[in-house]
Amino acid sequence: MAQRFHAPESIEQDSPMTRDGEYRSKLLKLLADQARAELEASNTYSRWIPKAPGPEERMHLAEIAREETEHWYGTIKILEGLGVSVKEANDEWATNHWFYTIVHLLIPRYRWEDILMLTFLMDRCAFLLVEDFTQSSYAPWARFAKHVLEEEQGMWTSVTASFAHKWKSWVATRCSGHLTSGGALRLIHSVLR
Ligand SMILES: [Fe+2]
Repeated sequence: MAQRFHAPESIEQDSPMTRDGEYRSKLLKLLADQARAELEASNTYSRWIPKAPGPEERMHLAEIAREETEHWYGTIKILEGLGVSVKEANDEWATNHWFYTIVHLLIPRYRWEDILMLTFLMDRCAFLLVEDFTQSSYAPWARFAKHVLEEEQGMWTSVTASFAHKWKSWVATRCSGHLTSGGALRLIHSVLR
């Protein structure tokens, strides 16, 4: 386990550590990468809305797109609090990773079942990441992550519960060619749990 140098939520925006040095540069890099990931998610879900097969699915994708846009907005506000603009974060701090090039090439080819499976997996991955951010030593980020986490938990239990089960059976049926239906169901149950 990595050793912690600073306690969770121990550093505020006006701390001298945020002005320069290694702490600031690492923080800006992590925040710029997070802002980029949220923006990619916002753009991706927005593009998927017209592909939804029905009104409920369309509403659900639009809701995810709105949430991801809020996550991006919250993250760029934290960066602005550190004196870094959206452009500067993107041009000077965000990682230029090949992953995004691949994603941009693949997304236009996605079918509805790809969207369903990715949403299952990405939702849980994002949850684990945000859970990690709630332990950040940078207090504004930890507070924002806690707010996002509360929203995600509320969203998961109330709005998506019935829709998730519809997705579960839909994906299980389509996955049966690649997995046994029991295997597909176990996979999806473990994601949904
Ligand atoms: Fe997000």
